[in-house]
Amino acid sequence: MQYTDSELVAMAIDVAGRAYAPYSKFHVGAILVGADGRTFAGCNVENISFGLTICAERNAVFAAVAAGCREFTKMVIVADTKEPASPCGACRQVLAEFHPNLDLILANFHGKSLAFQLADLLPRPTAGILDQP
Ligand code: THU
Repeated sequence: MQYTDSELVAMAIDVAGRAYAPYSKFHVGAILVGADGRTFAGCNVENISFGLTICAERNAVFAAVAAGCREFTKMVIVADTKEPASPCGACRQVLAEFHPNLDLILANFHGKSLAFQLADLLPRPTAGILDQP
């Protein structure tokens, strides 16, 4: 099934509503689109031991991998912010493991969105490890 960007944003807002964020109250939703057309949803899940929190983006990636999908075409990320939400460095690195130049749609809950490519946000993610001769 092929979804429009606005449908994907609506799906991401929906999953953001299921975020477990009692500490920050910051609800994030992510929808990862697989090359096979499947979509994988993630929301942030916090913990009282704050460092154990996992972001929405990584939860979507891990759900996809667990379902047997490792090829992606796009991720949509939403949060209830004035400007469209942007993924943290850790999530950029995890996304780059599977697609160093993934298309990203960053959006807020109010319809404002921006398109980026992952390589713009995280240039040369594997330099020094996988690029060794
Ligand atoms: N968070 C995400 O889920 N994704 C991001 O890209 C940034 C931050 C979550 C982690 C934490 O639960 C809350 O937002 C505040 O940082």
